[in-house]
Amino acid sequence: MSHIPVLLNEMLAALAPACGETYCDATFGGGAYTAAILQKADCALIGVDRDPEAIARGQTLAALYGDRLSLRLGAFGDLESLIAEPLDGVVMDIGVSSFQLDQGARGFSFQADGPLDMRMSQQGPRAADAVNGLTEAALVDLLRDYGEEDMARPIARAIVQERAASAIDSTAQLAAIIERAVGGRRGARTHPATKTFQALRILVNDELGELARALTAAERLLKPGGRLVVVSFHSLEDRMAKQFLAARAGLLGSGSRHIPEPPAGPPPSFVLPARKPVTPTDAECEANPRARSASLRQAVRTHAQAFPPFEAPPLSLRVVAEWREIAR
Ligand SMILES: C[S@@+](CC[C@H](N)C(=O)[O-])C[C@H]1O[C@@H](n2cnc3c(N)ncnc32)[C@H](O)[C@@H]1O
Repeated sequence: MSHIPVLLNEMLAALAPACGETYCDATFGGGAYTAAILQKADCALIGVDRDPEAIARGQTLAALYGDRLSLRLGAFGDLESLIAEPLDGVVMDIGVSSFQLDQGARGFSFQADGPLDMRMSQQGPRAADAVNGLTEAALVDLLRDYGEEDMARPIARAIVQERAASAIDSTAQLAAIIERAVGGRRGARTHPATKTFQALRILVNDELGELARALTAAERLLKPGGRLVVVSFHSLEDRMAKQFLAARAGLLGSGSRHIPEPPAGPPPSFVLPARKPVTPTDAECEANPRARSASLRQAVRTHAQAFPPFEAPPLSLRVVAEWREIAR
């Protein structure tokens, strides 16, 4: 089992590693980004991951690089409590690694059957707790908000009907229920369960809350001239990175020549070398289909003060309340 890094050269070009600088790889994963950065320049790097298995696997690399590489177990939303030193660059390659996806026992995939788990940190409530515990109305909200799933209603109804007979506790069982509910594969490139699995994963790992806190922390930890590189794999995360950077770069004008510009906000805390995201080449997508949905955004920190904390888009209050109750 291995993890093929996505947009690796593009990440290196955006981070531009230089001797004597210190970086954070906030999603250490299989360590491919970290190794490439450490090879590129005589720099130091702090690798963070919330998955204890990723940190354990990284010990071989840590031994190889000695003082230059420090690995820390924790969520990137807590970056400021994990890292005290000012940084010259922060890289985030958000999502799941192939190590997580390919291990049925972690419960992230409908391709490898396993328990409905999906917890990156291996702590807290599991995806099965959401599937069996949320009301039908909350499941509909969840699938719409976090899965952008058009078929949220029939899927939620089918889940509730099936779990009345017996609890849904495996990834293959849930995928089959969804397939039956929405009528097979709909001729699409992706499995009909893809969006439901995405929604559950985002909920279980509070992925959007984590990203909002991590972007805020990166803004505070980066030195002037420091680079921020964010690689995301679905539109909800990419939209958040885009909105965060547009606001921080002072690019949230009216967008129309007929409407007056709003009064000037605080000075930009980032400048954007490119407005458009970098996406993988056709050749990369062919070699690694998991790269298909990837998108890289980059920014350079200015001298200006950090903005107030960035907020994730709000989730349905019903889901928030029910999930909180389940998590108690
Ligand atoms: C796509 S993989 C990163 C792969 C890595 N760039 C490489 O080259 O091997 C994403 C990793 O980020 C970790 N992760 C996701 N969300 C996290 C969070 N909020 N805090 C810390 N780690 C997180 C996952 O556990 C996973 O190992």
